[in-house]
Amino acid sequence: MRDLENTTLTSKEEAARQYIFIEKAKEYVAKKEQEMGRKLTFCVQTFGCQMNARDSEKLVGILEQVGYVEVEDEHADFVIYNTCTVRENANNKVYGRLGYLSNYKKKNPHMMIALCGCMMQEPTVVETIRKKYKFVNLVFGTHNIYKFAELLCNTLESDSQIIDIWEDTDKIVEDLPIKRKFSFKSGVNIMFGCNNFCSYCIVPYVRGRERSRQPQDIIREIENLVADGVCEIMLLGQNVNSYGKNLENPMTFAELLREINKIEGLKRIRFMTSHPKDLSDELIYAMRDCEKVCRHMHLPLQSGSSRILKEMNRHYDKEQYLAIVDKLRKEIPDIALTTDIIVGFPGETEEDFLETLDVVQRVEYDSAFTFIYSKRTGTPAAAMENQVPEAEVKCHFDRLLREVQEISTKKSMALEGKTMPVLVEEMNEHDASLVTGRLDNNSVVHFPGTEDMIGNIYQVKLEECKGFYYIGKVVDHE
Ligand code: SAH
Ligand code: SF4
Ligand code: F3S
Repeated sequence: MRDLENTTLTSKEEAARQYIFIEKAKEYVAKKEQEMGRKLTFCVQTFGCQMNARDSEKLVGILEQVGYVEVEDEHADFVIYNTCTVRENANNKVYGRLGYLSNYKKKNPHMMIALCGCMMQEPTVVETIRKKYKFVNLVFGTHNIYKFAELLCNTLESDSQIIDIWEDTDKIVEDLPIKRKFSFKSGVNIMFGCNNFCSYCIVPYVRGRERSRQPQDIIREIENLVADGVCEIMLLGQNVNSYGKNLENPMTFAELLREINKIEGLKRIRFMTSHPKDLSDELIYAMRDCEKVCRHMHLPLQSGSSRILKEMNRHYDKEQYLAIVDKLRKEIPDIALTTDIIVGFPGETEEDFLETLDVVQRVEYDSAFTFIYSKRTGTPAAAMENQVPEAEVKCHFDRLLREVQEISTKKSMALEGKTMPVLVEEMNEHDASLVTGRLDNNSVVHFPGTEDMIGNIYQVKLEECKGFYYIGKVVDHE
């Protein structure tokens, strides 16, 4: 169902074309407003990762531009679910919520519902929506999100369900409206898609092949964000370490980091996610040298068993992973490490699980996301025999979680009494005499302060660790 007519447009021409639809949508919305005697409202619910969160900001940007007003919950004129499909329970959540929305729509027939995001890239999902969820007005995918203004116009004009899904795209359309959730921090896409095909993972199928943005476009975006009050950015990609490989003038992620580090007014740079197989020494040195890059690395382990890692198609083994951790700690001794771990991959034995526990104990992660393996139809792992019985997986999962939590508590307690840089993000929600900020490792710190401190970094003594957050006191301004 690809819109062949438009694939010949350049990215710039496509953006200009979308602005025409924004103007058109504005007229529709103004007319409806008059009919109803009030503003039209919208609600975007986001599931999944930071990529989706950033995509939702693009949807919100367009909706506000055309005259919709955002509301907190789904009692709105237009509800959009930006979906995730990385694990089965992410899908179930969306179907559950749709049931609730259908009742609401029965009472408010003028309401519009749209579904987009990763789950919509699965043909079986779209078939289900087409057959069983006829009350959904619009379905689109991850590759044509830049066409949202156009799709919105079509939906406002039509009574029937509109479905527009592309299998892939090589286009990156820049410079459309975007509305940030936070005034002081922002995600910045540096690449889209994934080429790694880890055997359990559906992301490459729903996000398409790897495409890197031009460095000058990334830098210009960050400069504009800084001019607009942003002091912290999170560079986003499924595997940032392979950034730039396919650009006409190839550039490494380490080189990009060094360029971004030069941007005046920017205070902090974070990035996500690093695949261990592509983590170069050059990147470790760039992290060490660039003062704006947070001393934090999210380095998904997935499994500590070399045998399972091979089955997962991760292209590193236990020893290589531990060697990277050693190198990181040698160059950046205070670096915080976090990770993702999957329990119950097909064929995982007690022995394999113990290897994972061993890595967890040796690395001592500051925190770790632990997931129960979820079978994703179409991935190689879904076809593997010897799927692990649920009870065994649950037992391993609980043991891992206990270990991870114990270490994480120990690590946060160990920072008590230390003085560390904190970027002030906002006034404390409950106590007007306090400000709230974050450490490099993303932990929250509350300390006495005033509004003018927002957006600045202070050396703060972490006087008391309260589990997931600290109470501190300013020692020095950086
Ligand atoms: N590109 C990132 C991960 C994106 S998905 C990376 O490679 O690190 C985020 C996490 O979800 C993964 O790290 C993995 O731990 C988990 N995950 C992905 N597919 C999964 C599945 N089928 N079942 C359970 N967890 C999964
Ligand atoms: Fe999935 Fe692997 Fe790509 Fe991460 S690197 S998105 S886990 S396929
Ligand atoms: Fe989910 Fe898509 Fe992100 S599947 S984890 S929202 S890339």
